[in-house]
Amino acid sequence: MTTSYYIWPNEVHFGFGSARKTGSIVKAEQPGHVFVIADPGVIAANLIDPIITSLQSEGVSFTLYSKVEPNPSATSVDAAATAYRDSGADLIVGIGGGSGLDTAKAVRMVVAGPANASVSDYAYRMGDKALPHPKHLPFFVAIPTTAGTGAEVTPWAVVTDPIEKTKFGVGGPRSVPSMAIIDPELMLTLPAFLTAATGMDALSHCIEAYVSKNDNPALDAMILDGIRDIAKHLPVAVAQGDRRTAREAMAHAAMIGGIAISSKWLGACHSLAHQLSGFANVQHGLANAIMLPHQMTFSLPGAIERYAAVATALGVDSGSNVRERAERGIAAVTQLSLDCNLPVRLRDVNVPKDVIPAMAKAAYTVDLNWWTNPRVVNEQVMAQLYHAAW
Ligand SMILES: NC(=O)c1ccc[n+]([C@@H]2O[C@H](COP(=O)([O-])OP(=O)(O)OC[C@H]3O[C@@H](n4cnc5c(N)ncnc54)[C@H](O)[C@@H]3O)[C@@H](O)[C@H]2O)c1
Ligand SMILES: [Fe+2]
Repeated sequence: MTTSYYIWPNEVHFGFGSARKTGSIVKAEQPGHVFVIADPGVIAANLIDPIITSLQSEGVSFTLYSKVEPNPSATSVDAAATAYRDSGADLIVGIGGGSGLDTAKAVRMVVAGPANASVSDYAYRMGDKALPHPKHLPFFVAIPTTAGTGAEVTPWAVVTDPIEKTKFGVGGPRSVPSMAIIDPELMLTLPAFLTAATGMDALSHCIEAYVSKNDNPALDAMILDGIRDIAKHLPVAVAQGDRRTAREAMAHAAMIGGIAISSKWLGACHSLAHQLSGFANVQHGLANAIMLPHQMTFSLPGAIERYAAVATALGVDSGSNVRERAERGIAAVTQLSLDCNLPVRLRDVNVPKDVIPAMAKAAYTVDLNWWTNPRVVNEQVMAQLYHAAW
């Protein structure tokens, strides 16, 4: 008999206008002082205004911290943790895309440990180094401004090693954010490229999770729903950023993707994509969008029925047999990228061909996401998939 293991989100508030409730929601937790982490782009787009106004009107004192990096480095996380300690706060509000939310999530883990701890001490790849006890984690409210990573409901933060250029995860079953406030209003300003790239990240979460080797049957119908929503609404959100129904559906699908990967994990696509960000600065969602059809083609023999179900959710014709339908699904993923004006080759996003061997090595030996890939990979396969995408 197989056993299933699930990690669920904590409390989630979802819907237009929900960010304006942040002040009253946070006040109910009776914080002494709040540390608000938001990335500079999110502040420039005035997205934090409803949150700040609601904190002020509830009389909640706070410190605003904005030194968030894209693909946050361990150094930037450690600096933010020091600022948290200096502020005297006991509750964290993170606002942003995956970079802002992951910075906040990672700070939460660092400050629960000893004063001299670094986020690197808790990296998954370092082996079984224990995380700080969950009872020391400050209450954490995650407010996403992109519909992509699902980081508002996942247990881990993704951090970049500034020297090795590789990414590592920190977190465990008890480090899911205490609360997520998902307000599609905050996503209306997301530019078309980032809407497309982050939306393809959500799609890659749903597809990689659906075919993963982890067996979580309670999630299956929900994940297919997420894929259907992305196929239908992502091109509209890209073409007409102010379409509220499309933004709402994408926020919902990104949350589903986050719930899905929390239990089912990811696959080789994310192992490949993480190196593209570390070695060649490719945006996370775009890196996944480019690698996904290639990883699907390779992995198809291991999960053909599941890939056929993905294809149906993507809205493709049934095909004369399961294999044909599954293959049409892969073509539909590439078409979705093209419909969203995303480049589909590595050479078009300035990835030098000569970094492929180093990326393939890191994708296989450092990144753990391929563990649940439906077909076994090795370093040569990683290199072959980069070449296919180049
Ligand atoms: N923790 C997880 O479970 C998880 C899962 C997948 C990815 N990630 C990580 O998330 C990061 C990527 O996050 P991302 O794709 O959301 O991008 P991001 O957070 O890096 O944001 C990209 C840019 O978009 C801007 N931005 C964000 N929201 C905006 C809005 N509504 N309007 C205008 N501008 C806005 C930001 O200022 C930034 O310049 C990577 O580091 C990746 O590794 C984490
Ligand atoms: Fe991702």
